[in-house]
Amino acid sequence: MRLIIDNANVSDIKRLYDVYPIDGVTTNPSILAKTGRKPYDVLKAIRELVGPDGELHAQAISRKAEDIIREAEFIREKLGSATYIKIPAIPEGIKAIKELSKVGCRITATAVYTPLQALVAAKAGADYVAPYVNRIDNLGGSGVETVGEIKEIFENNGIKTMILAASFKNANQVKEICRMGIDAVTLQPELIDSLLKNDSVEAAVDRFISDFEVLCGSGATMIQN
Ligand code: G3P
Repeated sequence: MRLIIDNANVSDIKRLYDVYPIDGVTTNPSILAKTGRKPYDVLKAIRELVGPDGELHAQAISRKAEDIIREAEFIREKLGSATYIKIPAIPEGIKAIKELSKVGCRITATAVYTPLQALVAAKAGADYVAPYVNRIDNLGGSGVETVGEIKEIFENNGIKTMILAASFKNANQVKEICRMGIDAVTLQPELIDSLLKNDSVEAAVDRFISDFEVLCGSGATMIQN
């Protein structure tokens, strides 16, 4: 299971890479807009951080297939061919995915809300499909169940496309998705931090340290003793 950052704040990405076992970065136009910076300034900085073969996803904006294809080529020129081009799984997007997959472009079909939308994108040649867990929940559906159905459809039809579950708002959604066995999840920085945030754990660690200091003196560690 790959753990990916869904964000474009370079200092947050640096901090998370430093601490956690992170496997890549996903972005989208809304995420880039939040930085207030020029898209390629941000994306190039992220590419440098993750390395030339690191996993980076950047989204095409156009609505027509031929324009999406041109954007994909441009993004790959700017950010390297290891970059996954995110393309919305709408009819023109599917048309672009069919063409781009033929030339070896890495593709993440995004804005996936239904299992059959995922199936069509996978058949068109997407490497990943990205179902939007929380947004599906917000529509009165179940993001977790939708991901489960996509997984079942892929497994039962011999489809190798990976599932990159996205749009999470809480740790329970992440846990339920991971329980079913998933290729990748992409999470906002706050949610990644929250996976380890627990007052009881903090209290346990504080107690270990204070007990040891009673034994060996203030600031003592196993190096001194
Ligand atoms: O990257 C796409 C997906 O993560 C969207 O998430 O939080 O805007 O629903 P959100």
